[in-house]
Amino acid sequence: MATNRTFTMIKPDAVENGHIGAILEKITAAGFKIVAMKYTQLSRRDAEEFYAIHSERPFFGELVEFMTRGPIVAAILEKDNAVEDFRALIGATNPEEAAEGTIRKLFATSIGENAVHGSDSDENAAIEGAFHFSGREVF
Ligand code: CMP
Repeated sequence: MATNRTFTMIKPDAVENGHIGAILEKITAAGFKIVAMKYTQLSRRDAEEFYAIHSERPFFGELVEFMTRGPIVAAILEKDNAVEDFRALIGATNPEEAAEGTIRKLFATSIGENAVHGSDSDENAAIEGAFHFSGREVF
């Protein structure tokens, strides 16, 4: 059964380009409630652990460099069918393939620097949320 929470990060490119406010507006306008949120920066170790599933991919080094180069906004979002609905809201990984009006179409610059993260399953949403937040930081 689908759970009602997903995990997101506004990535360093979108933060650098001044898009935090516009992205949060899109997220809340789409009906997601923010139940946890922080402005933080990933260490190299954090990024290597968070993206361990991609460690054998050719872009892994680039991904870790990118995700650690500046601050991010991490958040847990709540809505019915959260994982699937949020992936629809952000659009395809590659912004060139993302649908019109999606967050990546609007704010991402490339497949690597793609503005936002969205969990790909309920299981990963729970793991990723717990990676960034303790129980008393979730409301
Ligand atoms: P995301 O889906 O949030 O998590 C994995 C990330 O790896 C993805 O976003 C991109 O930022 C990055 N990524 C995926 N494919 C590529 C690629 N072909 N080249 C560079 N980075 C990629």
